[in-house]
This record gives sequence, C-alpha cells and structure tokens, in this order.
Amino acid sequence: MFGRTIRKIGVIGSGNIGPDIALHFSQNLYIYGVPVIVADILQAALDAGLKKAESKMAKAAEKGVFKKEEADAIFKNMLFTTDYGKLSDADFIIEAAFERMDVKHKIFDQCQEVCPETAIFASNSSHMVPEEIFQKMRDKSRCLVIHYFFPAERNIWVEIVPGKDTDPALIEYLMKFYEFIGKAPTLVKSRYGYAGSVIFEGLFLAAALTVEKGLASVKQADDIAQKALGMGVGPFTAHNLAGGNPITQHGLSEMHTRLMPWYRSPKILDDYVKSGKPWETAAKGEVVKYSPQTYEAVSNRIMGAYFGMVCEIVESGISNVGDLELAMEVGLVLNPPFAMMNQTGVKKALELVEAYSKENPGFKVADILVKQAATGQPWKIPVVVREDNGDVAIVKIRRPKVLNALNEDVIEQLRENFLDIQKNPKIKGAVLSGFGTRAFVSGADIGMLASQNTAKEGEAGCLKTHSVLNLIESLGKPVVCAMNGLAFGGGNEIAMACTARIAKKGQKVFVGQPEPKLGFIPGAGGTQRLPRLIGLEKAWPILRNTNPISSSQAKEIGLIQEEVEGDLIEVAMDWVKKILSGKVRVPSIPKGPIPIPSKLPEVDIGHLSRKIDSLLQKAILEGAKMTLEEGLKLEAKIFGECFYTQDRKVGIDNFMKNGPKVNANFVHN
Ligand SMILES: NC(=O)c1ccc[n+]([C@@H]2O[C@H](COP(=O)([O-])OP(=O)(O)OC[C@H]3O[C@@H](n4cnc5c(N)ncnc54)[C@H](O)[C@@H]3O)[C@@H](O)[C@H]2O)c1
Repeated sequence: MFGRTIRKIGVIGSGNIGPDIALHFSQNLYIYGVPVIVADILQAALDAGLKKAESKMAKAAEKGVFKKEEADAIFKNMLFTTDYGKLSDADFIIEAAFERMDVKHKIFDQCQEVCPETAIFASNSSHMVPEEIFQKMRDKSRCLVIHYFFPAERNIWVEIVPGKDTDPALIEYLMKFYEFIGKAPTLVKSRYGYAGSVIFEGLFLAAALTVEKGLASVKQADDIAQKALGMGVGPFTAHNLAGGNPITQHGLSEMHTRLMPWYRSPKILDDYVKSGKPWETAAKGEVVKYSPQTYEAVSNRIMGAYFGMVCEIVESGISNVGDLELAMEVGLVLNPPFAMMNQTGVKKALELVEAYSKENPGFKVADILVKQAATGQPWKIPVVVREDNGDVAIVKIRRPKVLNALNEDVIEQLRENFLDIQKNPKIKGAVLSGFGTRAFVSGADIGMLASQNTAKEGEAGCLKTHSVLNLIESLGKPVVCAMNGLAFGGGNEIAMACTARIAKKGQKVFVGQPEPKLGFIPGAGGTQRLPRLIGLEKAWPILRNTNPISSSQAKEIGLIQEEVEGDLIEVAMDWVKKILSGKVRVPSIPKGPIPIPSKLPEVDIGHLSRKIDSLLQKAILEGAKMTLEEGLKLEAKIFGECFYTQDRKVGIDNFMKNGPKVNANFVHN
C-alpha cells in the first residue's frame, strides 16, 4: 500500500516502551498477516515484555475492545526473541533500546548487515537527532526517528523526524502509513528533543522548580500542574508511570547547552534518580490540599513555562501551531496551548511568560508571542490542513480528538481554503477528506450546537454553513470527497456539496442524519440535497428515522460513486483527473424543484420527537417544491423554529449528559 510492501516488522528493545510499540503494530497489522518480532539481548526483558503484552491483550478482551479470538491472534502475531536472525526479512525496524548513542550505533550497524537492502530503519529515541544516530549508516536515505509516546499502543501521537538525508518519498509514505494504522503523525524537523520531549520534560522541570523554590510539595505541584493544564496525569505521576526519570535527567541536561540555558536537571531529579525511588504523588482518589495562593503561584509559573516553550518551538521552525496544538491534546494529553492562550488572552499569556523569564534567567520569550500579543488578535489554529499534489489540492479536516467534528473554525477555514483553491490558477481540482481512519466528519461539534440559544442564532449559523457548502458546490473546479470513515450529520451534508463522493470500502456504519435524536433537523443542506441527490422516496426514511446506512447501501442508492479498497486519496485524485478530462461525468444535484411521489414509504420514528419530525417533513416537502437556493433558506428558517420547541432543549441536554447512545425523553411539543 502507498507504493511499498511491508511483510514483517522488527522492534528492537523489550524495555518500557518496545513491547507497547510492537503491540500497536500487531493490533493493526495482524489481519494483513504482518508478523512483529521483538528482539532484545536480555531474555529477562523479553519475558517481561511478553507478559506485559499478554496481560494487556487479556484486559482488552475483557473490556470488549477486542474479541477474545482477535486478542489471541494479535498476541500470537508477536514473537519475542534474542535472535537477530529473525529480522533478516523485516522491512521496517523500530529501535527502542537504551537512550545511548553507542548502543543505537551498534544496533543499526547490525541491522544493516542483517536486514533487506530496502528496509526502513527508525529509532524511537526521545531526543537524539537522526543525523547523529545514523551517521555511520551506508544508506541514510532509509533512516529517521519515529518518536512514540506513552502508552505507545494507545497514544495516537508519533513524531516523524527525518534527517537531512532521509528520502522525502519515505517521509511521505510514513505519514500515510501511520495515519492508516490509527496514529496522528506530525512531521518535526531535526532538533535535540524534537517537540514532544522538550515540552514533556520542560513541564516536569517547571513543576520541579516550584518544589525547589519551596512554593509547593511534589504532591501539590503534581496536582496543580494537572489541574492548570488539564493534564491526564501530573508531570511527576507521568514520570512514575513511564519510568522516565533517568531519560529526563539526561535530556534536560543536554537541552541546557543545545536549546536554552533554562533547561537543566533540577537537583531533586538528580537525587531521585540516585535513589531510584518513585515520586511521592497522591494516591488514587486522594484529595490534595493547598491554599488558593499556592495554586496561583504554581499554576502561573507552569502556564508561563508552557506557553513560553511552545512559542519557542514554533519560532525555531521545527513545528507549527496546528501540529503542536493537536500533539499536546492527543499526545501529551493536556489542554492545547494556543487555544488556552486565546482563552486567557494572548496579552495575559505574554505577561505570564515574561514574568517567568524574569524569575528564570535563560528562559526565552519568543518574538512570535510578543508580536501576536501586539496584534490584539487570538492565535489562528489550523483545523483544516491543505497539501497540494501537483494541480490537485488535498484538503483535510483535522480534529482527531472529536473525530473531525465541525465547529465554527472548521467552517471558516473550509471557506478560506476553497476560496483560495477557486482563485488559484495552478489548482485544477480538489480532494476533501478527514484525518485518520475512523471518521470523515462525526457531525457538528456538540459545543457549537449547545452555544446557539435562539432561533435567530440557529438560522444564522445554518446560513453561514450553507454559504461555504454552496461555494464548494459551485467552485467551478471538481471537488471529490474522499470519505475515509463515517459521515454523520454535517459530514454527509458537506460530502453532498462535493462533485463526487468515494468511500473506504466495507463501512457498516457509514452515513446518517442523526439530528432529530438531538431535537432538531439537519441544517447544513441535508433536507434539500439528499432528496435531490437520491430521490425523495429514498431520502425520506434516512432523514426521518436517523438510522445510519452502510457504504455499500450508499453506493447502491447512488449517494456515493465508488467504494474503494486501498489508498483512498490516490483514487480520489484519479476521480478529479477523470472528471477534468471528461472521461466521467457525475450528474450534479438538480437546482430546481423535484417531483414528490404520490405515496411515500411509511417511516417508524420510534421514540423521536413528533414535533421535530413534523418540522422536518415540512422542510423536505416544501423545499422539494422550490429551487435549491430557496429550499436551503427554508431549511435554515425551520432549523431556527426548532428552538421554539421544548424538544430541542431536551435532545441537546440529553446528548450532553448521556452521549449519543441514550435516547432522549422527548415531550413531543
Ligand atoms: N519509556 C518511554 O515512555 C519512552 C517514550 C518515548 C521514547 N522512549 C525511548 O525509547 C527507547 C527505549 O526506552 P525504554 O524506556 O523502553 O528503555 P528501557 O531501558 O526500559 O529498555 C531498553 C531495552 O533495550 C534493551 N537493549 C539494550 N541494548 C540492546 C541491543 N543491543 N539489542 C537489543 N536490545 C537491547 C535492553 O535490554 C532493554 O530491555 C529510549 O531511546 C527512550 O528514550 C521511551
């Protein structure tokens, strides 16, 4: 796939992280018959790794994440061995041995003797630059760093860090491959510690310094940092879990000379590494006490350090605002920094960083932060990313944490991107897709829906979205929607505004219009475009009963043009070219009124709101008699009318409280 074949994967090192990396590969590749070999020099390490993998799979089966037979197959697909010979036909090696240059040199030297001439060599070093790790390799074009995060079988972030000699085609391949196996890869330029370790270890340092300063105990600083940054666990707890003290000690000491003088191993860390003890963090459920003054003193410093570090990283050019925002949220599991600065105000964020720098000589205040604060504007955070491939623009909605749900930023950035595509003479067409493998777009962001309070706001929101979808529909250039996963609500509505739609093959739950479950009607064109695209008779139940359909059903009823196995983006680009050359013609949605059959199928709407259903019927039937343009205006108006019902509030409240699986208790008025 993506132009390469991987028949076997080797993971070298069966310590803290190696077995987890191997487990992730096995979980995603066992069905393709790609075995995973874990090699170590110590039998004891292999035994421990095997036991860990076995118990993780047993737990996953217990929790229903995998069926028992799947879990067994995943585990059996892994082989733990001291025999490097087993790697002789491995096409992809990830090294996760000691964080020592001499060890990594030795391992890759062995690998280049044993493995095929085309094998990819990656190190999971958490700091070292690829140019140094691979300096002795004969063919550096196949070498790079791929940095995983704890726990590697579940954490979706990986940093892809190429060296100066890494083949650009390999980088492109790995970005696609990792997305395909469920990760969120970000490309980071070569610099010591990349982005992830610098922030992870820097936050630990910031917390440790508040302890050294006597502002808080370890337990308090851990708890305050966790709360202030919305971390999954505090920095000390994270170090206990990942066994990270020695690596952080070494990393921080190196960053001192390589990045900025503020980074250093704090004395309490040196002491703990010597003693080998874990940090004294709060027990499960323990409430940690401190005064509001302590909270403020510690949290201001930690936020100052956080904002300062991320801005320095963006300024260095190794990463960017969008990637860091995504990585912090899904990888380090903390509040994304730029959204956080936007919330506190960029000016206030600058004040925190300046205060931190004043107290901590050697801590840099990045110019980009000073400049941003001076504009008085919030940071612009990309949630729609674009990459051009020749004369085709590939646009992706990228919000993996919420399965690419639509919010105002997504809508606005779609507008900006498609306006640019429209006026750029070099671009002849576009592919619109979603990031990852699970969803094209999971629907509208519940936060956005809940923030609309009146009929007027609801109607205005719809009209705004319509204007963007109308732009896509009449761009003057073909836009092929590559539906890489489910498309609910607004997802399907965006897809229908595209010239053609293709989908990943075999999706059982693919397209649905679940809006009535939440107490309103589709408001991004669904009530008008779906009947025009597949006929009113077929659209009638899909819109009214909210039951999702599969990708094969979608193909059958003409909602999509093709189900695709393999590289969806590649096929979508082909469609763009075929449409441009006139080889295929995809009929466009009729812009005028459409026939209403004399008899429509009976639809069982179950528990759904009778009131919302009658508004929905009105939007569909009245809209069918109008032009598409008028119908869309009618839809927006009726979407607003839903606010006058009690059922809209009931539906939204239920969804916020119980999620999509629990039915709302509609009052039907
Ligand atoms: N622990 C984490 O959460 C984490 C996260 C990201 C990156 N990393 C990086 O991953 C690497 C491994 O980290 P770890 O925490 O698992 O280390 P670890 O010390 O727990 O395990 C290293 C393993 O490598 C084995 N090893 C040493 N030399 C070897 C050789 N020549 N051939 C085969 N195996 C050999 C050791 O026996 C040991 O089992 C390091 O470079 C580290 O910086 C770790």
